[in-house]
Amino acid sequence: MLKGERGSGTQSAMELLVAIGEAFDAPRMIPVTRAHAASSGQEGDLYFVEILAKGGATCKIMTTTNPIVDFEYFQKFINISDEHQEASVAWKTKDCYRQIGAIMSWSCIPYLAENIPEYGEHVAFSESSATPYVNSVIGALTNRESIQTALAAGVVGATPEYGLHLRENRKGTVLVKVEANLKDGYSYSLLGQYVGKKITSGIPVFVGIPKRPTIDQYINLCAMLNVTGAIPMFHIPGITAEAKTEEEAFAGNIPKDKIVVTDHELLETQEELQTATGPIDTVILGCPHYNLDQMAELAKLTKGKKLRDGVSFWVNTSATTKLLAERTGYVTVIEETGAHVVTDTCIDMFCWNNLKEKTGMTDSPKCAYYRRFGPVKMGTMGECVAASMKGA
Ligand code: F3S
Repeated sequence: MLKGERGSGTQSAMELLVAIGEAFDAPRMIPVTRAHAASSGQEGDLYFVEILAKGGATCKIMTTTNPIVDFEYFQKFINISDEHQEASVAWKTKDCYRQIGAIMSWSCIPYLAENIPEYGEHVAFSESSATPYVNSVIGALTNRESIQTALAAGVVGATPEYGLHLRENRKGTVLVKVEANLKDGYSYSLLGQYVGKKITSGIPVFVGIPKRPTIDQYINLCAMLNVTGAIPMFHIPGITAEAKTEEEAFAGNIPKDKIVVTDHELLETQEELQTATGPIDTVILGCPHYNLDQMAELAKLTKGKKLRDGVSFWVNTSATTKLLAERTGYVTVIEETGAHVVTDTCIDMFCWNNLKEKTGMTDSPKCAYYRRFGPVKMGTMGECVAASMKGA
């Protein structure tokens, strides 16, 4: 592959992986069986996938894609044409992923439905929530990949053996004692936001978490740890995949120092993020994409209600989840309020640019950061629903 005998696209993918392997002193390449490329539909993404596509590369293993934009859906609200530069880049990017045989999942939670690794499986997953989720919750082995290294691994079917592919590098490095009342998915987002920012790197071990987190709580914790920090993995002894006890999580070396997180730290984190308090113009949920449980909860909260005039409400999810949510009736209930359930789309895309001046509200710190509303209000899913129906 490195000599170009399988085409220039595969050669470029292999060159990248060899360079990464050399940078990290990896002794060899090892096979991987799945990849997830955190495609963004932006210039850096297009640059590399186009090289692969033009060079005739194809994915050798299951390789899923991250949300970009649902052109057909947004065509109804904004003028998307080929002349729109960001649209044209996203469109070309989608086309290149199709050409190289990636799975068109366009979702940031592929590990729940479209591309699920097993315990002990070596994979190459990029995307903020995906990397910590597959390492910690499932017990698969992946490094914190970029779009390009994950995609290259998808084409080659291998990755350099370094970092989290080696068992000795998967032990905990920081002890985090949780005394805060973790009552919902939102509080797990704030926990991830706080701890990621505080430690910036390493593998936290959480003690004091009262019970097994729900899937959306895990997703929120994973996403925020790996946004404010570069945290590819964590342990919750007795709960996550690789550590039954605190002792095992640290491979015998439990640190003397610890970080303590109380309700006070979570409240402070929310206050740091929040820049608005009054009425809102728009709500965006689903960053990371909402799963089916969250769609069910949202349907329950919105049933029989209507959005206040002038307020828009957007819920992002995967195509797979939307299909099930439609069949089950959740989408009808949610959309009867005037809200939109959107698939395949990231909140960091040009299709939301018209919300830049608006006062936004979200349950996702990641959304608050990337979307760059005017002012932004933070709250739980229930608080977002309540504010949008009352408009305040
Ligand atoms: Fe998903 Fe985009 Fe948010 S990839 S996590 S919707 S920033």
